[in-house]
Parts: sequence; structure tokens; C-alpha cells
Amino acid sequence: MILVTGGTGLVGAHLLASLVQKEDTVRAIKRKSSDLNAVKEVFSFYFDDADSQFSKIEWIEADITDITTLNPVFNDIDYVYHAAALVSFDKKDYHLMRKINIEGTANIVNYSIANKVKKLCFVSSIATIDKTAKDGQIDETGDWTVEANNYGYAITKNGAEMEVWRGTQEGLDAVIVNPGIILGSGCWTTSSGKIIGKVAKGLAFYTEGVTGYVSVKDVVKSMVYLMNSDIKNERYILVSESRSLKSVLFKMADALNKKRPSIKVTTLMAEIAWRVLYFPSIIIGKEPILTKQTAKSIHNKYYFSNQKIKQEIGIEFEPIDAVIKEICSNYKR
Ligand SMILES: NC(=O)c1ccc[n+]([C@@H]2O[C@H](COP(=O)([O-])OP(=O)(O)OC[C@H]3O[C@@H](n4cnc5c(N)ncnc54)[C@H](OP(=O)(O)O)[C@@H]3O)[C@@H](O)[C@H]2O)c1
Repeated sequence: MILVTGGTGLVGAHLLASLVQKEDTVRAIKRKSSDLNAVKEVFSFYFDDADSQFSKIEWIEADITDITTLNPVFNDIDYVYHAAALVSFDKKDYHLMRKINIEGTANIVNYSIANKVKKLCFVSSIATIDKTAKDGQIDETGDWTVEANNYGYAITKNGAEMEVWRGTQEGLDAVIVNPGIILGSGCWTTSSGKIIGKVAKGLAFYTEGVTGYVSVKDVVKSMVYLMNSDIKNERYILVSESRSLKSVLFKMADALNKKRPSIKVTTLMAEIAWRVLYFPSIIIGKEPILTKQTAKSIHNKYYFSNQKIKQEIGIEFEPIDAVIKEICSNYKR
């Protein structure tokens, strides 16, 4: 049987929608606070009989940081997709991110080894890819260092990858995917799903920063292919195109018939803004709109190579403009 962690999130929900098309039963974990309606909404984008497809999922309540809850989860499991994580750029979440992303992954790896799981597919991020470009492109070969990429989310995802590599030394077969910013329909209030809602509400700001984007469907397609192949102990950047935030936000605004963001955020503006916004956010206890980390990263220009995954599995990535069009149409629906 297949186990999915993070099944209530953007990647996991789309992955479950793909897996139930081939499997009679797929096991997934959820927490008490999880929103299963978000998964049902994702299923409605794929199936006319969304409820009956959804009923193929065997949900077990478990927390990856609490090993006492993981025992029943691993009964009869052959393959594990590990997508659960805390995605945050807020300094106050750093210790929780270490617990969920690093310790949680260590627990999944340990249970996979103890239960003789055939293969683990771990969802990491381009955050853990060294940003030194070769011939203008960033690939999987650089040496990521904490010193050069000193921020919480990247450190914890790198720590999680280390746990997976440690598992491979102890006999576990594993593959790691490193997606760029993932765009997909549904889960509009979590992770990258929030971007579209911000544009729909009339986001005013943009930057010329460049990074990699990929559709959630291509992430899922790559994960399933890699899991079912003989490939092991490799990592793959999953990026369709490297694009400016400006071009992505403008496309979204156009597709939603909203006003395009009109204020270009300069480096100086961002540096001032995160300091101004941080203190009120502490007082009212809300996530700050801009953090020190995001203020720095939104101006970076990173161009990623997708050659390794293309050569390995022959995937043709969906163009980002088409992805945005589809997501915006689903958002309006
Ligand atoms: N979204 C992106 O742009 C992006 C880009 C690159 C890589 N990634 C990676 O892709 C993976 C999935 O991201 P996503 O966008 O789908 O995130 P998401 O929508 O925020 O979903 C996170 C998932 O992790 C689960 N989770 C969090 N803490 C948990 C815990 N302690 N125990 C069990 N489950 C827990 C959440 O469950 P609850 O419903 O219970 O909260 C949810 O199902 C993550 O590993 C992320 O680092 C995401």
C-alpha cells in the first residue's frame, strides 16, 4: 500500500487525486485540525465522482512529530510519499519548522526503514539548491552551505534532506524532488496557494526578482514516475520556467480581471517595510506580510536548469502561462 504525508496540502491533495486513479486504497495522514474539504475541492477539479474517488483514501490521524501516532500508519506500507512540512518565512516559526521538517522527516525515515518500505519519495525545495550558476543556470551539482543561504525554511529543508540521505546509508531507497514555487488549483489559504488570493484581493506590489515556477501536476507526475522507476538516491530540480514575480503576478491579475500590481518594490523599500511591518505583527500576533527573509529574497534573480529531470524521465513541463490561466479559472469557479 502507498502512504502519503501532507495529503491535506496542495502537493499532497493533487498527489492523492493522481494515486486514487490507479489504486483501490491509498493511506494518508491528517491531523485533528486538518481541512479535508480542501482535499475534496481539489478532487472536484479532477473527477465528476469526486466523493467516490475521495472515499478510496484511508485517513489515519497522525502527527509526524509524534512517533506514538505513527505505529498504525506504517502497517503494510510499501511506498511512502513524504510531502508534509511547515512552509514559513517567519522567524518565529523557525523552531517549529526544525521540529516538523527535520525531526518529522527523521521519524518518517526511521519508520520506513523499520517497516522495510521499498521506496521513499521526499518533497524538498529549490531552497536547498546551491545558487551558484554554471553557464547562467543553477543545477543540482553545487554544494549548498548554511552560511550562503542562511534562512530558516531552507535550513530545515536541507536538514530534512540530510535525514533522507542518512536513511539511504541505512538501506532505504529514496528519491528527492526539489520543486520551484508550485502553482496549482485549490488549497487557496495555505502555502503557495495564497498567492492567487492576494492577487484577487488587489495586491499592489511587485518585484523584478526571478525564480523557478512549476505546476503541481508536473510535480506529481515527476514524483509518481520516479517512485515507479528503478531510479534511487538522486535529487531533481522541478522547474518549468524561471520567471520574474512581476510577470507571474501580472498574468494572474489579467486572468482574474483584476488591476495589475502597480508599485515596484525596490530593495530599499523592502528593507524599510519589513522592519516597519514586523513589530505590529508581533503585537497583534499575526504573520507579518513581509519578513526580513522575504524582503531579501524577492529581489534575487535565479535561473534554474530542468535538464536532469527532463533527461531522466522525458517530461515536458506545462508552460507557466497556461498553468496560471487554468488556476485562475478554477479560482473564479
Ligand atoms: N508550495 C510550494 O510552492 C512549494 C515549493 C517547493 C517545495 N514545497 C514543499 O512541498 C511540500 C508540500 O507543500 P505544500 O505547498 O503542499 O504545503 P501545504 O499546503 O502547506 O501543506 C503542508 C502539509 O503538511 C502537513 N503537516 C504539517 N505539519 C505536519 C505534522 N506535524 N504532522 C503531519 N502533517 C503535517 C499539513 O497538514 P495539516 O493539514 O494538518 O496542516 C499539510 O497537509 C512541502 O514539503 C514543501 O516544503 C512546496
